[in-house]
Amino acid sequence: MKILILHGPNLNLLGTREPEVYGSLTLDEINNKLIELGKELGAEVKCLQSNHEGALIDALHDARTWASGVVFNPGGYTHTSVALRDAVSAIQIPVIEVHLSNVYAREEFRHTSLISAVCKGKITGLGWKSYALALRALMEE
Ligand code: DQA
Repeated sequence: MKILILHGPNLNLLGTREPEVYGSLTLDEINNKLIELGKELGAEVKCLQSNHEGALIDALHDARTWASGVVFNPGGYTHTSVALRDAVSAIQIPVIEVHLSNVYAREEFRHTSLISAVCKGKITGLGWKSYALALRALMEE
């Protein structure tokens, strides 16, 4: 089984970006944990991050050809991007939306997600474990 872990804008700055909100792990540290968990569960995990909406759309389209599922943190695009929602909706593989922070405990504009309704499910607020739980769920698909 192959799973794509897809990170959206600003997540490349994890570790130094508002650590009180997003934790102190860097993106590489999170990715390594997920690759290790994947090995334990028998999944090949590929991790990708982009700050660009179009590149995230391309990655979702491409995942259709090789992945059995996607764990997706769309970052700030969660709250604004019709194009990313359409991309998730267009591919036939399950996508789970994840967030490190609890978006519902934060500013009101973060309470709206254009992505959630087209995802298999959503996990928010558990730090890097949001990704880990989503990965486990996809493995049980
Ligand atoms: C985030 C939450 C978003 O509101 C924010 O714009 C991010 C990160 C999270 O993982 O908690 O960039 O997706």
